[in-house]
Amino acid sequence: MGENSFILKGDLICSISRDELSLQPESFLVCIDGRSRGVFREIPEAFQGLPFRDFSGQMIIPGLCDLHTHAPQYAFRGLGMDLPLLDWLDTYAFPEEMRYSDLDYADRAYSQFVDALVKSPTTRVSIFATLHVPATVLLMEKLEASGLKGYVGKVSMDRSSPDYYREETAEDALSAMIGWLRSSRLQFRNFQPIITPRFTPSCTDDLMEMLGLAARETGARVQSHLSESPEEVEWVRSLCPRAGHYIDTYLQRGMLDPDRPSIMAHSVYSDEYERRIMRENNVFAAHCPQCNMNIASGMAPVRRWLDEGLQAGLGTDVAGGATLSLFRTMMEAKQVSSMVWRYQDHSLKPLTFEEVFYLATAGGGAFFGKTGSFQPGFELDALVLDETGLPSPRKLSLRERIERFAFLSGEQCVSHKFVSGRQLF
Ligand code: GUN
Ligand code: FE
Repeated sequence: MGENSFILKGDLICSISRDELSLQPESFLVCIDGRSRGVFREIPEAFQGLPFRDFSGQMIIPGLCDLHTHAPQYAFRGLGMDLPLLDWLDTYAFPEEMRYSDLDYADRAYSQFVDALVKSPTTRVSIFATLHVPATVLLMEKLEASGLKGYVGKVSMDRSSPDYYREETAEDALSAMIGWLRSSRLQFRNFQPIITPRFTPSCTDDLMEMLGLAARETGARVQSHLSESPEEVEWVRSLCPRAGHYIDTYLQRGMLDPDRPSIMAHSVYSDEYERRIMRENNVFAAHCPQCNMNIASGMAPVRRWLDEGLQAGLGTDVAGGATLSLFRTMMEAKQVSSMVWRYQDHSLKPLTFEEVFYLATAGGGAFFGKTGSFQPGFELDALVLDETGLPSPRKLSLRERIERFAFLSGEQCVSHKFVSGRQLF
């Protein structure tokens, strides 16, 4: 057994299903070679003698999984949330992302992003970079060294944005993407390249077609944005008159494939047809409630997604979202679901704590493989939580403690973090 074999003792919590938590106080989590062997009341005979870490009195939960965020936008998080999506992109996002042609700037900015991500509750993440290959490789080097795991996308975009931030032709965009994909597959283990057409308005039909072919040939996964705002959906309709729905602009170009899970961020306006295409093609919906509120996109009907069995998780979507904390995102997912019930449809009940916990752990975690749970065989990503800032005059149940902790927590509340059994801090 290697160095990633040990036992953690604490109050252990993980999802059993979409709407049920396993709550096991004062129990033992056995990790062998980076994977869980399960949670036990007593240390089983076979595992006696393993290194033992005693976190008695502290809660231990699976690491949180961020299905959607933009690394280069971290630099302007908390700024410029007064415009709707399309104006916001032109005014704030593109001018900032353009700076990553300068490697010195990228080095400073990406160091700050990766440092913050390591300290955050996130263990797995799928990231958009910029269209620049050197800066994207630099980001992947920093992430690889951090111990976190996930996917990074060099963004592909050859139309609609200003000249200063656009690839000149579809062929240029494709060859930059392929060169980066091939070399980064060899260079990195913890972070894999993911094909990333920014969204349909940013990609000509030719580029989308080439990226679809590249996905099929290389087996690489795909991430993008889908049906985020009304103006964007309308724009896609006029750009692609032959597509009945926004999702057809990806489907018809071979971007979606049931054998290759993909991520579509937002899906706020995805109707029954789009949600069916997503289910049939192993597409994960990344719910990004704070971004949807900040840039006035709308409210995603997540209750409906869950009822229909759509695969879904949470995304911070910095800098449309201002925070990297998925604990805050859990709270916002709950809040938005309450507004959906109030303003859209009384049959769509607000999400329960169990459901938002599931979305942040096992729900999003399924995109990365066996992650997001302490079930035997799952990669052991774990957070030890620090409750010292949350006193209570009465004794809380474990169920109350975790709900309160998640809903009240900002950034600085994780005391130890493990990814695949490796301790990051
Ligand atoms: N759609 C295309 N690009 C972006 C982006 O950077 N952020 C968000 N929220 N939506 C997008
Ligand atoms: Fe986004």
